[in-house]
Amino acid sequence: MPSLTPKPILFDCDPGIDDAFAIAMAYASTSISIEAVTTTYGNVGLDNTTNNALRVLEWLGCDAPVYVGVPGALLTETVDASGYHGVSGLEAPGIPEPTRKPEALGAIPFLVDHLRSVDEPRTIVATGPLTNLAMALQLAPDIADKIEQVVFMGGSTDFGNDSPAAEFNMMSDPHAAQIVLTSGVATVMFGLNVTHQVIATPARIDALRSITNSAGPVFADMLDFFSAIYIERYGFDGPVLHDPCTVAWLLQPELFATENMRVDVDTAQGLSYGRSVHDRWGIAGLTQNCEVAMNADVDGFFELLSDLIGRLK
Ligand code: BDR
Ligand code: CA
Repeated sequence: MPSLTPKPILFDCDPGIDDAFAIAMAYASTSISIEAVTTTYGNVGLDNTTNNALRVLEWLGCDAPVYVGVPGALLTETVDASGYHGVSGLEAPGIPEPTRKPEALGAIPFLVDHLRSVDEPRTIVATGPLTNLAMALQLAPDIADKIEQVVFMGGSTDFGNDSPAAEFNMMSDPHAAQIVLTSGVATVMFGLNVTHQVIATPARIDALRSITNSAGPVFADMLDFFSAIYIERYGFDGPVLHDPCTVAWLLQPELFATENMRVDVDTAQGLSYGRSVHDRWGIAGLTQNCEVAMNADVDGFFELLSDLIGRLK
């Protein structure tokens, strides 16, 4: 029998067009609730990603507090993805500027204090570089026991998007990703190998636009903006919804085929810097540390998305 109390989740993100979709899906769902949001640099700088998180949450009507994270990677130069998401990081004229502010406490002390204080371990959804989580785990390794799982978008079992080998979130901070993957915390990975299956074709964008609330057209317009680079660079029929795969899996795990395996991140300078390395057949004899999404039920994903966006105002 399904639980009547929504399960609290922590959301670490760099909104970001597809991050905004993921936040909206989690907010619209009745089985999970966003307990707090922590922001990271990523798609654009930290000031913009934080502002965008506040914009999206306030527009949705979600009063989850927002804690500001770190402005850059542990060891690497910061890159950005404004070419995908727009200069502000969230090209969405339908979403006004926020009136509320982030909390005074930073994301890392918040994560440490909060996780230490809770009775039930928390699921963390992470849709940007993993720097905040890595720093929290380094500072307070005991919080690993209070993390049920980290469900993250990052990496790829095949091709990269920030380099031929590496995906953007992992390339942004490979050392942080490796710290999280080897922390002993259960991890669930949604990499490009699966998120590139989840293409918002023109028909799927039209379906969102035809939802009879104000949110449907706003999200459809965001996808129109997101389309150009996916059509030009990748030859896809439309943009892909990377980050929302994490939330879709939490809500309907049957939408994805997953496999358990060992995953590490290449932190050595070279052609494969930032690449996730997948030991699918246990060749290295190392402990499995990640449940990796391999395939998606794409029609099922878009049915869920439409259903959730349809519940918004
Ligand atoms: C990831 O990078 C960002 O641009 C997206 O928001 C997603 O988290 C895809 O590589
Ligand atoms: Ca993101």
